[in-house]
Amino acid sequence: MSTAERPIGIFDSGVGGLTVMAAIQQALPRERLLYFGDNAHIPYGDRSLREVRAFSAAIVRALLSKGCKQVVIACNTASAAALREVRKAYPHTLFVGMEPALKPAAERSSSRVVGVIATRATFQGTLFASVMARFARDIEVLEQPCPGLVQAIEGGELDTPGTEAMLRGWLEPMLAKGMDQLVLACTHYPYARPLIERICGPDVKVIDPAPAVARQVARLLREHDLESGAGPSTPLAWTSGDPAMFRSMADLLGAPPMEVRAAQWENGELSLP
Ligand code: DGL
Repeated sequence: MSTAERPIGIFDSGVGGLTVMAAIQQALPRERLLYFGDNAHIPYGDRSLREVRAFSAAIVRALLSKGCKQVVIACNTASAAALREVRKAYPHTLFVGMEPALKPAAERSSSRVVGVIATRATFQGTLFASVMARFARDIEVLEQPCPGLVQAIEGGELDTPGTEAMLRGWLEPMLAKGMDQLVLACTHYPYARPLIERICGPDVKVIDPAPAVARQVARLLREHDLESGAGPSTPLAWTSGDPAMFRSMADLLGAPPMEVRAAQWENGELSLP
């Protein structure tokens, strides 16, 4: 197989990264996509960055052993924990990670108050500090961790009274402070976007970076002459959790059709059969 025909590897702690995979599939329909959801270890956001870094390093090794030409860390928490390290470890591999979309939020904000919702771990990483230093100089940034939201979404509770109550508890104080842009800095959160938009109302712009990330994936492939010429194919996904549950969640969330297989962790290493 020529280098360009090799697949793109994408991973997340669960089904969240499927929001990014869908954007990549739309932008690059000829690419072969491999996905891994680490449901055995979800949620990443409540773990230490060190632990998430170890998981991410092993996942990258497993995806590279499948011949991936590019790896997309479709998880803000794993990007915060590991993006810099994996780039250093594999200088010849193309990596794309998620970073909170403060730049477009700062550019568009009239009130100069911007909200970011993410996992606790994402706010602790140096990646968030560097995004803040670069783009938040003349805006007020309201940082709001959302513990429990990833689990609610993985459980299919996208728009239940419980999820709404949780989100109102976080978002209403931000709205009271004049927020007019809300950055979704966790790849699970776009699944709750209709509810989030209903709570925030029409004056708040909700920003999901997935389309911009897909454009970055395409740009890198183009620059390195690695775009695939093959036809469209069904993505292949692995989960370290229950494949039947993963598939039914993916269907419920409207993810693209895919083949789902079970993956195993053993002594800190991941195998993708
Ligand atoms: N989708 C992951 C992210 O973007 C969720 C992290 C988690 O598992 O808590 O941060």
